[in-house]
Amino acid sequence: MSVVVTIDGPGGAGKGTISRIVAMRMGWHYLDSGALYRTLALAALKAGVDETQSEQLLDLAKHLPLTFLLESEDEDHRVLLDGVDVTDDLRNEQTGSMASKVASNQAVRAALLQWQRDNAVAPGLVADGRDMGTVVFPDAPIKIYLTASLEERANRRYKQLIAKGLDVSIGELLEEIRVRDERDMNREVAPLKPADDAVTIDSTEITIAQVVDNILKLINK
Ligand code: DC
Repeated sequence: MSVVVTIDGPGGAGKGTISRIVAMRMGWHYLDSGALYRTLALAALKAGVDETQSEQLLDLAKHLPLTFLLESEDEDHRVLLDGVDVTDDLRNEQTGSMASKVASNQAVRAALLQWQRDNAVAPGLVADGRDMGTVVFPDAPIKIYLTASLEERANRRYKQLIAKGLDVSIGELLEEIRVRDERDMNREVAPLKPADDAVTIDSTEITIAQVVDNILKLINK
């Protein structure tokens, strides 16, 4: 028996950090579905495949040599592509934007569906993404839609990237996130939207610890 908690929302709302902490506190597994699309995007960029080349993308998606390494509460999990640690390459906005493009391909999403569902193993799973509550785990008993204002999300991403030593401009970042959200929300297949039975949490003016507390309370109820 495995309980699934889904946490969906736009980029930079804090889903990754919050999902990881909730999973750790519960002793559950954590699925970062964005990293799956980002890894596929990176594999496509490395292979010189663009988002219009559906057949090649599908082939990459079906044979993605991806490994997630165990995470801790205050550190991102590491991601290996074909045995090579690509974690740092996954986080930049170029990969994020390509991930959003490859993710609007229906056949690609279908190919990655079962892999995601296979993560729902005992005792529980926190699944973070865009369509966790609407498509991948529609029967999850707890669904969260985590959001925050665009400015706050861009600001958080900016701080994260600067802390990693990357050279980014806040204005460009804001525009990239805005374009990516718009694409994720308006695509035909599995668009980003709250599930009908999701609880919406706006994290603009509350801390990570408060959001985590709210979610743990919902789980323990
Ligand atoms: O959560 P993230 O920023 O790492 O996600 C990167 C992109 O991947 C996002 O812009 C859209 C896509 N994605 C998706 O379509 N479905 C998911 N469940 C997760 C991510």
